[in-house]
This record gives sequence, C-alpha cells and structure tokens, in this order.
Amino acid sequence: MKILALNSSPRADGVSKTAILLDAMVNGMREGGADVEIIPLRKKSVKNCIGCYTCWTKTPGTCVHNDDMTKELFPKWLESDIVVYATPLYHYTVNARMKVFIERTLPACEPFMNRVDGRTHHPIRQKLPKAVVLSVAGFPESSVFSYLSSYVNMLFGKGLLAEIYRPAAESLTLPPFQEKAQAILDATTQAGRELIQSTKISKETIDKITVPIIEDFDSFATMANSFWKTCIQEGLTPSEFQKKFG
Ligand SMILES: Cc1cc2nc3c(=O)[nH]c(=O)nc-3n(C[C@H](O)[C@H](O)[C@H](O)COP(=O)(O)O)c2cc1C
Repeated sequence: MKILALNSSPRADGVSKTAILLDAMVNGMREGGADVEIIPLRKKSVKNCIGCYTCWTKTPGTCVHNDDMTKELFPKWLESDIVVYATPLYHYTVNARMKVFIERTLPACEPFMNRVDGRTHHPIRQKLPKAVVLSVAGFPESSVFSYLSSYVNMLFGKGLLAEIYRPAAESLTLPPFQEKAQAILDATTQAGRELIQSTKISKETIDKITVPIIEDFDSFATMANSFWKTCIQEGLTPSEFQKKFG
C-alpha cells in the first residue's frame, strides 16, 4: 500500500507537534507493511490556484503552474492509495499551506456537473486516493476540531477513512506530561497499524489519542497564561523559552 503523508506545519521537525504525531502514526503504518513517504510542505513550492480553468479546458488534467505541485506532488498524490493530510489547526481549520495544496488538486476533476443523491459533483478523471486527516491544536477542548471535521467530511465524503485530532498538543513536549505524551504517541502508532490492517481506527484507540492531558481546563488555561506572561516578560518566543529553561 502506497501512502503519501503531507505535513503542512511551517515549523521544523522536532518543534512541530503535527510532525511528532505524524511520525508516530507513520511508524505504525510502516510496521503494518505500508510504503510511506512523508513530505513537509514547507519545503515545497506550491503556488496559489489562479482560477484560470486551463486545467479543465486547454490542458485537461494539467495545471498552468510549473512548480513542485505540478512536477512532483500532484503525480505522487494521484499514485497514492492513501494520503494523510496532517495540519496544525489554524483558525479552526486546515492552515493556509494545506488549503493551497487542496485547491491545487482541481485538475483531478472535470468541469462538468453530475447530480448524485441530491448533490452536485464534478466527475473525476481517475480514481482518487483515500484520505486520512490528522490535526493538532493549542486549545484543550476536542470541540475545536468540529469545523475542520465538518469541512473534511464534505470534501472527501466516503473517501475519508479516519480523522485523528489531538487538542492541547503544545503540552506534549512539556516535561511534567512526558508519561501521558508517550501513551498518546503509542496510541497514535497503534492507529497507524489499525489503518493498514483494517482501513479504520478503533474508538478505543481514538479515545487514547484524545485523552485530556489536564482534566480541568480552567487549570490548563491558568498554566498556559502564566507561561505566556513569562515569555512576554522575558522577551522570548516559546521555542526560545524552551531552549533556555528546558
Ligand atoms: C495562526 C495560528 C492560528 C491558530 N489557530 C488555532 C485555533 O483556531 N485553535 C487552536 O486550538 N489552536 C490554534 N493555534 C495553535 C496551533 O494549532 C498549535 O500551536 C499547534 O500545536 C501547532 O502545530 P505545529 O507545531 O505542528 O505547527 C493556532 C496557531 C497559529 C500560529
């Protein structure tokens, strides 16, 4: 099984919480025998769709842009059995880099409109890869992902195999939560194994991934606020803070 794992975080590996969870899931997928390629989208040039519809008319299936999306990513996307869309939650949805990627998959569709079960669709030129969505957020409530979930269900429909959402993700690298973080990452690896074995993730595994790091969200907010106040007082970004104080 060929899997393309896209990470749209602008942060480097080791800092990006999306990357930490994605790596854990990919380990499980590889253990299950899948051939997985991870691509950090921050290293690729993917220009904005300009809405010219050249890919629907003059060069059917091919975009006018001559960038990494046209030359490398789009062909790899089409050849994959599963694509993992791993994104930090930005303003309650995929971040801009992931959205640009998604918009640039338009050449896979034809312009015509088909009516199926009361909904309008564009026909696709060839079979599309199944989708798995993975996202991380700063806030502690799982409900922060509800808009993203509704979006990806609309976008991928029956092609959406699984969704993995980890709230309070910034706490995963904090020393007091090391044990809990390890259990969350182990469950994420298990999710990768399950996806390869059965193309779905059990509720038990999802519950382990989404388990609260701190049960009381008021205490979580107090702790986060004191961290941010210190950063402001010391004139440090969070990663500079972590380097200085560990
Ligand atoms: C521009 C921006 C928007 C964000 N929007 C949200 C949000 O809507 N909800 C939330 O819980 N966290 C939000 N966050 C926090 C990130 O989701 C969180 O820091 C995440 O761990 C970043 O993932 P990364 O380390 O892989 O980049 C936002 C962060 C940034 C920089």
